[in-house]
Amino acid sequence: MVTIRTLVPESHDTVTFELQFQEEIARQNFSFEPGQFALIGAFGAGESALTMASGATRKGSVDVTFRKIGRVTGALGRLNQGDTVGFRGPFGNRFPMERYKGRNLLFIAGGIGLPAVTSVLFDCLEARNDYGTITVLYGARSTKDLIYQRHIAEWERRLDVNMVKTVDPWGVADGWDGKVGLIPVVLEQINPSPENTVVIMCGPPIMIKFAMQSLEKLGFRPEQVYLTVENKMKCGLGKCGRCNIGDMYICKEGPVYTAAHMKRMYPDF
Ligand SMILES: Cc1cc2nc3c(=O)[nH]c(=O)nc-3n(C[C@H](O)[C@H](O)[C@H](O)COP(=O)(O)OP(=O)(O)OC[C@H]3O[C@@H](n4cnc5c(N)ncnc54)[C@H](O)[C@@H]3O)c2cc1C
Ligand code: FES
Repeated sequence: MVTIRTLVPESHDTVTFELQFQEEIARQNFSFEPGQFALIGAFGAGESALTMASGATRKGSVDVTFRKIGRVTGALGRLNQGDTVGFRGPFGNRFPMERYKGRNLLFIAGGIGLPAVTSVLFDCLEARNDYGTITVLYGARSTKDLIYQRHIAEWERRLDVNMVKTVDPWGVADGWDGKVGLIPVVLEQINPSPENTVVIMCGPPIMIKFAMQSLEKLGFRPEQVYLTVENKMKCGLGKCGRCNIGDMYICKEGPVYTAAHMKRMYPDF
């Protein structure tokens, strides 16, 4: 059981909970690795897989951010600060952080994909000297769909982060100070070098498909690209068969894969 310690409305349909473990032993001992997820339960409604979005070095509480799209996330969205929710986890594999040391990092996130890569980013910023350049490309459908504005403002202030934000051409509002265009288009404009660079990416399948094409055009190889896949899930334990892509169970083997792995499994990817 965890308590909603703080609740931050991120946008018209997206909320962040800071979840604090109710048992002292869990507060002391719970740990996770960037990329892992938990099944968060709203009583009477069910559970949803949500990526842990805070830095993995934080103790005692974790953040999750979710878009209210259906039964469970809608029920979670009706809760208040101080309410209790269920927490099962951590589940899934992780981003192989040890392979990123000394490399340039390019984060690409679309929409509600941003929380899935922020625990990696938070941990990299804590050990900033271990990495080369850090670029964050984040895109939302419109200015009203932008989330994590407080984090983005902080990353924009830092001289050691190249923060690039964009909204779709039909989603611009007055006063917007970012770029306008779909993520693959903006990616090609900023023209990142593939040299000694790894890409850490999460977003809707259509964004991933076209961002992959742009990355390949820019000279990136699929081995350099790490993705996290957010399929539907139920048990989280490899038992119900709900989360599969072909014969691969995302909850057991994923959710983090290289694009090379995805291409080997699915030549159409
Ligand atoms: C490893 C992993 C990490 C995730 N991390 C996050 C996260 O950090 N934040 C977040 O908001 N979501 C995340 N998701 C997605 C989230 O689990 C689902 O959106 C959520 O469970 C939907 O539950 P629901 O009962 O509210 O919606 P439902 O009532 O089940 O569905 C509502 C509508 O959304 C569609 N839908 C449901 N789940 C998905 C999905 N995964 N992808 C596309 N369409 C879907 C349904 O087909 C339906 O049309 C993650 C998923 C996985 C597998
Ligand atoms: S969620 Fe049940 S098998 Fe993966």
